[in-house]
Amino acid sequence: MKRTIVMKVNTREPEIDKIRVAADLIRKGSIVAFPTETVYGLGADALNPNAVIKVFKAKKRPPDNPIIVHIANKEDVYTLARNVPETAEKLMAQFWPGPLTLVLKRSKLVPDITVVGLDTIAIRMPSNKVALALIRESMTPISAPSANLAGKPSPTTAEHVINDLAGRIDAILDAGPTKIGVESTVIDMTVPIPQILRPGGTPYEKLKSVLGEVELHPIAVADRRVRVIRARSPGMKHRHYAPDAEMVVVEGKFNKVVRKVQELANLYMAEGKRVGILATDESLSNYSSDIVKSLGTGKNLTIIAKNLFRLLREFDKEKADVIIAEGISPEGLGLAVMNRLRRAANFNIIRC
Ligand code: TXA
Ligand code: MG
Repeated sequence: MKRTIVMKVNTREPEIDKIRVAADLIRKGSIVAFPTETVYGLGADALNPNAVIKVFKAKKRPPDNPIIVHIANKEDVYTLARNVPETAEKLMAQFWPGPLTLVLKRSKLVPDITVVGLDTIAIRMPSNKVALALIRESMTPISAPSANLAGKPSPTTAEHVINDLAGRIDAILDAGPTKIGVESTVIDMTVPIPQILRPGGTPYEKLKSVLGEVELHPIAVADRRVRVIRARSPGMKHRHYAPDAEMVVVEGKFNKVVRKVQELANLYMAEGKRVGILATDESLSNYSSDIVKSLGTGKNLTIIAKNLFRLLREFDKEKADVIIAEGISPEGLGLAVMNRLRRAANFNIIRC
């Protein structure tokens, strides 16, 4: 166990003295959790293999899952990657800084461990001011996976990071809840038609409107467990976002879903289980069970995305044995939400 320093930072105007303390830690090879606009990340100097190893250990991350490298200047792409296609430059111009990660051919600068020996590298420029200041002051690209224990829901507050990683990391910059709440979209730019490997904060529809042609990797939209033969994004094959409670997602037409969710809740409660229901504002009043929480109105997917991981963690805190979640519309940010929900439930999905 090490002592983890927690520093509160102003998210609009980050205090430079605090940022410098964190940047010094990064420069000397320590690991620091920091906010991005999507979720909190666990940062290390991406060019220092000894620092990057610490991230894998602290998170208990599977050793074949590569880490996203965060930059504060678009030009840094050209030192970290090679053969950057024009399509990637279009996306950088349109969506950076922001929740979009580009997979490109890597340069020799990047150590093997950061990209787990792949010949590609995932790069993003976050828009959060604390993140940008930290990267700038560290004067090095920062590799950062989400700052949770591997397999758990991603952290959208510093408290989530503390719950998972206190005593395992050197410091946490606490700038309050993150704005978007789901991770960045990961898009592979090394294939002829750019392919989304993980839906996230930048919706498919927006990428398509800029690029014309975009594919969705079958795993990114899978509604059942898909056997991965050779995943281009190895992270896709691991269990993710899972609360401690057993979870089931009910998908289909609104009225049928509501009926089915309550029916399941009754069955589980009859077995003596403590049942949580993850509802929306529209369905909330239809349910009775031990714990009922709303993600927000089904008409506002931005709010739903923002609340998702926090609510999954709250069910655990309130000791739910089972979580029954309603499926939501897979449009815009809804695609990222459904991707997370289905994985959180380990593809335990009921269609009606
Ligand atoms: O919003 C986010 O992306 C957050 C914040 C902290 O920036 N980070 C994040 O990192 O979600 P992580 O490690 O939890 O997810 C990284 C994803 C994984 O699915 C991983 O497999 C994929 O990016 N990835 C990383 N490097 C890759 C590469 N070279 N090729 C393909 N996929 C890659
Ligand atoms: Mg993660």
